[in-house]
Amino acid sequence: MSDLVRYEIKDGVAVITIDNPPVNALSPPVWEGIDQAVARASADPAAEAIVLIGAGTTFIAGADIKVFDTLKTREDSMTRSAGTHALLKRMEDASKPLVAAIHGNALGGGLEVAQACHFRVATKDAKVGQPEVLLGIIPGAGGTQRLPRLAGAKIALEMCTEGKPVAAANAQAAGIIDHIVDGDLLAGAIAFAKSKAKAREIRKAREISLTDAQKNAGLEAVAAARAALKKTAKGMNAPHAVVNAIEAGLQRPFDEGSVRERELFAECVVSTESKALRHLFFAEREVAKVPDIPKDTPAKDVKRAAVVGAGTMGGGIAMTYANAGIPVLLKDVDQAALDRGLATIRRNYDVTMSKGKMTAEQVEKTMALITPTTSYDGFDQVDIVVEAVFENMDLKRLTFAELGKVTRPDAVLASNSSTLDIDEFARASGRPRQVLGHHFFSPANVMKLLEIVRGRETSKDVIATSLKLAKKLGKVGVVVGNCFGFVANRMLAYYMREAYLLLEEGASVEQIDRVLTEFGLPVGPYGMQDIAGIDVGARIRQYLKSIGKTRAEGPQSDIPDQLFEMGRYGQKTGAGWYKYDAPGSRNRTPDPLIEQLAEQAAAKRGIRRRPIADEEIIARITTALANEGARVLEEGYAARASDIDIIYAYGFGFPRHRGGPMFYADTLGLDTVLTRVQEYRARFGDYWEPAPLLEKLVAEGRGFYSDAAVNV
Ligand code: 3HC
Repeated sequence: MSDLVRYEIKDGVAVITIDNPPVNALSPPVWEGIDQAVARASADPAAEAIVLIGAGTTFIAGADIKVFDTLKTREDSMTRSAGTHALLKRMEDASKPLVAAIHGNALGGGLEVAQACHFRVATKDAKVGQPEVLLGIIPGAGGTQRLPRLAGAKIALEMCTEGKPVAAANAQAAGIIDHIVDGDLLAGAIAFAKSKAKAREIRKAREISLTDAQKNAGLEAVAAARAALKKTAKGMNAPHAVVNAIEAGLQRPFDEGSVRERELFAECVVSTESKALRHLFFAEREVAKVPDIPKDTPAKDVKRAAVVGAGTMGGGIAMTYANAGIPVLLKDVDQAALDRGLATIRRNYDVTMSKGKMTAEQVEKTMALITPTTSYDGFDQVDIVVEAVFENMDLKRLTFAELGKVTRPDAVLASNSSTLDIDEFARASGRPRQVLGHHFFSPANVMKLLEIVRGRETSKDVIATSLKLAKKLGKVGVVVGNCFGFVANRMLAYYMREAYLLLEEGASVEQIDRVLTEFGLPVGPYGMQDIAGIDVGARIRQYLKSIGKTRAEGPQSDIPDQLFEMGRYGQKTGAGWYKYDAPGSRNRTPDPLIEQLAEQAAAKRGIRRRPIADEEIIARITTALANEGARVLEEGYAARASDIDIIYAYGFGFPRHRGGPMFYADTLGLDTVLTRVQEYRARFGDYWEPAPLLEKLVAEGRGFYSDAAVNV
């Protein structure tokens, strides 16, 4: 038997322990070990029942995701899953009661193994789930067939299409878990298994037959799930495949439903959607591993924080700290500014409460962690200060000079600047080793990305502390270099340049937004600007003009500045790229004025506006992102292509099922991307210069992800 699965007899029960750290993933030897151990226990006269349990902190977190890369064709998958399904049936046919003892997580294949056991017991804090859809696949080890029999189709559909884990108590109410163990899990599971042996009770999920009423209710739930997915799963296949598999299980006998599940799983596992989502799963875990920051670099535990600036960003950052249970001082220059900031925070929490995501008591407790102040009193107690004052170099320098005096020498001093040079603040503070950027994304309390911007002298401890803190704040921290706009906004400038130029050339604001949302973004570039505020970008452009810089190479459209001058800042003023019912409203209608401005801009530039195909919009925008991404990578401002993908997925909602802008470029083929860049250069001008790394990779026949030499 493999070392990953242990077998022993305890109190007359065979205990099978899976020990495959860190999460007991089901790699092929683990599957094999379980199979052999169950067969041994069935034949072992010393065992009256069997318990399957996980070593370490969890039961089984699922199939080993890396193994999916070895499935190159549908046929590979069909062959492998035939083996897995047969194995699970052998388990289910064990001649003695077989009990899964769950602590930590039983996810994906882990829950499917548990479903093939006769009974499931769990600790109070255990969680069970079918998160496969988040990896672009469906439960492929019988989950779409057994789970509806145990929990009903409605719950199975919810769990399998949303992928969210369910707490033990809810799983028990749903019929997935039979018993919650108080105290020692193994002892409780053994006692439970013995009671079932005594009662000679064995229950096979696959033999539970659904009544006609249950089937009909299930089919109604299938129709409702399909209707909901039309809105929520645009451009994705796996959620629909899940519904099809569950439907097959309602309409056909277990064995036939299982074959359908295997076919649908096979289609999903070789799809680009699944490869993209699996790529992001590992990219997200890789991002915390910074090449020159060893794992044992001392990282401080942040216990108290302060935020300077109670505007939209500062308020959102203070909420982020409070939500993580960290007391935070919120400073602004006068009481009026603080009152405005606190009122916004209160409104945000009221919205959360109205959605049922927080109770009134939780809101009060969380708000009590935010202490407003107009002075630096108490700043000598905090472990970190996040500066979120107006985006103005002189003001920020001054703020850092003050922070250098009022904080402890070991306090981390972070700036939320989105564009300015971190090293300037570092010098102003007098202790540059403690200074770095913490670039949050708007709304700061919601968006999961935190760009951790490394200055020239930032110490490794401060980076390690920031990575640890990001996790505590529920953010994905990505370490980036200190270039203009860092990584996210530097690339965004190229995305926006193309959006503006496409408008001038003949596309409409509505068309561009529609095409990008159909591509999978939550909001198009113009809708996004109306939310973020056209004034924000305009003020940054004014500052850049004053220092002789532009955000992106190439022609700069005048239209955003014209809107700014008209006071059309977006949703907050009731007009921007769209017209809104009222200031603050989200109900928008197209505004013919934008078309007029685009005509004027085109005339000024000497171009004839033309109809623009949807495909050209996607091609221009994604090519601009990949070309600039290649520059960012070769200049070393991102450590890996996958860091850029994470930044885009979490910072700007780049569709996860496309894997991020760099992965997406690889799926097109970098030769196609380069050909496009060259074509655009010939059509539009030299500002479409190919990134040298892009040319190099194409010459070598590689992609961003096909060779470790490319920082990947
Ligand atoms: N396969 C391979 N590796 C896995 C894995 C899996 N299913 N789950 C986690 N890991 C690895 C991670 O990559 C990470 O590796 P690293 O240390 O080298 O970076 C390590 O285990 C620890 O994982 P986390 O950093 O994510 O640890 P957390 O404690 O934060 O989270 C977890 C634990 C909640 C279990 C989380 O890892 C998770 O959600 N895992 C994936 C669960 C999942 O999607 N299961 C379904 C798989 S598909 C399937 O089962 C198909 C079936 O139907 C046939």
